[in-house]
Amino acid sequence: MLVRELENRPLARQKTTPRRTISRFSSFDRARDMVSDIYVERGLVKKIGEYDIIPEKKSDSPHFLLTDSRVNSFYGDVVLNSFQNAGYNIKKIVVPEGEQSKSIDTYNEVADIMFSNRIDKNTILFSLGGGVVNNLAGVLASTLYRGIELMHISTSSMSQVDAALDFKQAINSRMGKNLIGSYYPASKILIDPEVLVTLTSRHLYDGIAESIKHALTQSRDFFEYLKANANDIKNVDVLEEIVRKTISLKVPLLRGDVRDDFNEMLPQYGHSVAHAVEHLSAYELYHGEAVAVGICISAEISRLLGLCDEETVSAHYELCKLYKLPVTVPENIGTEDIVAKIRYDKHYLKGLPHMALPVDVGEMWHHHNIYSVPVEYDILSEAIKINKSKT
Ligand SMILES: NC(=O)c1ccc[n+]([C@@H]2O[C@H](COP(=O)([O-])OP(=O)(O)OC[C@H]3O[C@@H](n4cnc5c(N)ncnc54)[C@H](O)[C@@H]3O)[C@@H](O)[C@H]2O)c1
Repeated sequence: MLVRELENRPLARQKTTPRRTISRFSSFDRARDMVSDIYVERGLVKKIGEYDIIPEKKSDSPHFLLTDSRVNSFYGDVVLNSFQNAGYNIKKIVVPEGEQSKSIDTYNEVADIMFSNRIDKNTILFSLGGGVVNNLAGVLASTLYRGIELMHISTSSMSQVDAALDFKQAINSRMGKNLIGSYYPASKILIDPEVLVTLTSRHLYDGIAESIKHALTQSRDFFEYLKANANDIKNVDVLEEIVRKTISLKVPLLRGDVRDDFNEMLPQYGHSVAHAVEHLSAYELYHGEAVAVGICISAEISRLLGLCDEETVSAHYELCKLYKLPVTVPENIGTEDIVAKIRYDKHYLKGLPHMALPVDVGEMWHHHNIYSVPVEYDILSEAIKINKSKT
């Protein structure tokens, strides 16, 4: 009935009489701390209970460790036992691995378990896992009791260099990905690079696509480091350096004003095309894989506009290939499909997509503080066709 009523309602408000101004009686605001501290420590996961992570005044409350089935098989009991041996009252909750756990159903199930185990206002929810568990825990922590403390123990490369390093918390609606969520800080983001060695290679490289994006947009030195160490990627020293360097490059972008073009456009490098390709692949491509394709096409666009040279374009393809990432649009996705899909990108303005574009490795085009470039559709199509011809 309700749906029928909504369907019958006119789409736009009918303009009839002039609108009256409503006068404000009073107003209030209340600032809340939005601060996340990041810790990178080798071997942290094995002995986490020995560190001063849980504040003293919260030490007697019931705490929860949310993890997924795969991460649980490697580290669930290690972390649980470490906390319990230190005397904490902590319970483990395990959800199935994979994107399907970022759902309302899983949210409800976990919330029920937590409520029936008597959470209180001092309860801390730890997420032990990749982006899926971080995001699910983020939505739970931000909503149960209107907000309990959240801490991430970040275990995937995507999480250590991207997903955990944000206030954006989201689960999926039946209508689409990441549609239900909030901005809520984890008080601590705890990163142990050692755990990355148990990730599948595909997931490891998928996260490193974000590191590649930061190198290409912000640092030639980091680009050279990634190039030189691609064959040594299972070495924990290399992993730790990649994680530390990526965080150092990302944090200034997270700190500033979100309305600032630099902070908005740089992290989104390659993402307009990437989101379209990721969606059109029916999520067969992982996010980082789609970003790799997206940044290669962005470099082609930049060269077509005369902003960068062929060497900069080749640098994109070469580095992504060294980390086993796809660099060209999958054959079954047409140029026109991507062009049509880009219409729904959040940086689509005044009839055109807007993108950050490189002028060199580690340097983006900008004029004063403007980093976004409007891209004509024929240039976008041409860039995709060139990219496809490199398959
Ligand atoms: N700003 C943000 O909030 C943000 C940014 C990027 C991605 N994301 C979200 O993150 C999710 C993707 O993150 P992800 O790639 O980490 O996915 P994920 O959490 O599903 O982890 C990938 C796989 O690796 C396994 N895994 C994780 N750590 C492991 C380890 N140390 N050893 C062995 N296996 C391990 C997981 O069980 C899973 O099977 C998506 O839902 C995406 O929307 C959010």
